[in-house]
Amino acid sequence: MATLLTVPAKAIRQEEKGVRRLRVPLLAGNWKMYKTPSQAAQYVSAFLPLIRTLTGVEVALCPPFVDLTTVAAALRRGRGERGTEVSVALGAQDVFWEDEGAFTGEVAPGMLVDAGCQYVIIGHSERRQYFGETDEQVNRKVKAALSHGLRPIICVGESLAQREAGQSDEVVRRQTRAALAGLTPDQAAGLVIAYEPIWAIGTGRNATGEEANRVIGIIRQVVGELYPGQPQVAQSVRIQYGGSVKPNNAAEFLGQPEVDGALVGGASLDPQGFATLCQLAAEAAADRARSGQ
Ligand code: PGA
Repeated sequence: MATLLTVPAKAIRQEEKGVRRLRVPLLAGNWKMYKTPSQAAQYVSAFLPLIRTLTGVEVALCPPFVDLTTVAAALRRGRGERGTEVSVALGAQDVFWEDEGAFTGEVAPGMLVDAGCQYVIIGHSERRQYFGETDEQVNRKVKAALSHGLRPIICVGESLAQREAGQSDEVVRRQTRAALAGLTPDQAAGLVIAYEPIWAIGTGRNATGEEANRVIGIIRQVVGELYPGQPQVAQSVRIQYGGSVKPNNAAEFLGQPEVDGALVGGASLDPQGFATLCQLAAEAAADRARSGQ
């Protein structure tokens, strides 16, 4: 069975020596409100053979709630039929913080676990913008997910107006601090954070690789400040870039030293295109490992 995190032996050796840990990049496909259960099953059958032999990278598919059990079954079937080198995990796009109750329309963390999820996206800018999700709610969701063994992918990022007002760094600092409030060092170390500038999502505009790397460096610095004297926390947390990542621009982001993969919306909807992105991430990871970054 594929493990959730494939940490190369070299990384473990580095960690033992107290050297910077090699983080496994995560390519997560956020399907948003696209694909019915039958379309989702077809996607998985087309996608798995294309990425089966990739190494040094982890992949996650994050379909709508109603597709989760179908995708979980298709992933299990795919692994059983052919075996996969690469770990392909399942993630949801949101979660509620209560365990159960009269909360019409909401989905509890335990339900996601039982449906086969390992990951859950929390605080996506579309949830914050269109559904009024606050920093405090994001933090409650993160804690609930962790207490059920789900790995959060926490989204942070500034709007165009905030960027133009020169507030980008301040916004991501505030969102990161709020999302991680009250987490233990171990919980924080296992997180995935996605830096997604809102002005770059679904717009075809994207940050430059250097800019993404710079802001992600700031996020890592904030995590470090939250856990003084425990540098391993900031060194372990994986921080992705997201926002109009496509096969023709992905290498620019994935090659940056601070960028640990990507959260991909539109370009994850086509199995061939998403497989190409996963391939590019695996190549970037191999380059990083060679250069010891
Ligand atoms: P996009 O979406 O790749 O379509 O810009 C990214 C996201 O919203 O997670």
